[in-house]
Amino acid sequence: MEAMEGRMDGQVHTMENKQELEQIEIELLLSGVHRLYGYDFRNYAMPSLKRRIWHHVHSENVPNISALQEKVLHDRACFERFVYSLSIPVTEMFRDPSLFLTFRQKVVPLLRTYPYIRIWHAGCSTGEEVYSMAILLHEEGLYDKARIYATDMNERSLQQAKEGLYDIGKMKQYTKNYMAAGGTRAFSEYYTAKYNSVMLQPFLRKNIIFAEHNLATDTSFNEFNVIFCRNVMIYFNDELRDHVHGLFHESLSRFGVLVLGAKESIHFTRYSDSYEPLDRIEKIYRKNK
Ligand SMILES: C[S@@+](CC[C@H](N)C(=O)[O-])C[C@H]1O[C@@H](n2cnc3c(N)ncnc32)[C@H](O)[C@@H]1O
Repeated sequence: MEAMEGRMDGQVHTMENKQELEQIEIELLLSGVHRLYGYDFRNYAMPSLKRRIWHHVHSENVPNISALQEKVLHDRACFERFVYSLSIPVTEMFRDPSLFLTFRQKVVPLLRTYPYIRIWHAGCSTGEEVYSMAILLHEEGLYDKARIYATDMNERSLQQAKEGLYDIGKMKQYTKNYMAAGGTRAFSEYYTAKYNSVMLQPFLRKNIIFAEHNLATDTSFNEFNVIFCRNVMIYFNDELRDHVHGLFHESLSRFGVLVLGAKESIHFTRYSDSYEPLDRIEKIYRKNK
């Protein structure tokens, strides 16, 4: 009877043990990555992190997370692929066009009153969001007095952002987005086509500063009138999200504007009382204290 209980117990625990083992392996992997390379993924939201890690286990052709850990720690190129796969660089120009339209209507009038404008795009990925802002400011006659800081933890994405070179196949969707975002010209004015790519007009890059910056580990580096951080914090747990909101709060000037992604919100963060909505639906907030 005892043995049977033991066996039954054993069976029940097998599943739990598996989950515990997975948890231990993930913690060891992330701790190793943090200690060796300085990248801190320990406070990313677990469900999507787990999915990405397993996806990477399969794409590196290794049997389990411990084997991935070994490869990531011993092979820098594997680590770089790992960062790229955790970074989820999905983006597009004028993504969520209604946000850009609302920004034109509600934030641009505020920006007109400033002698100069500093904007930070945190988690800018391959740059599409940043160039969308450059186009918008150009059309509103504000680009010359603006400095746009575009940062990401992912070096590979930043490199592409700096080049401003995109797949020609995406232009149809981007043109549609641009029009829906209140664009006032022909979108094709902003690029030249070359084979299967388009090169954005170099003047759009003139006032953009691209730099590596990790929201989990780096500090504030300037004061901004506007901060965009869209579709980045959805991958963080509550602790890291609060930490990053602290960083933004500290980096925004008085009455500065914070723009979040469609599925994000300032509510349920430690800073919810420090902002009032300029547009609740589009997730545009204004710092009030
Ligand atoms: C889904 S993209 C969002 C791009 C753009 N903001 C948009 O909404 O279209 C998320 C970006 O956040 C970046 N990211 C993730 N964790 C980060 C961190 N700790 N610090 C800086 N950037 C981070 C990723 O590298 C990726 O480029």
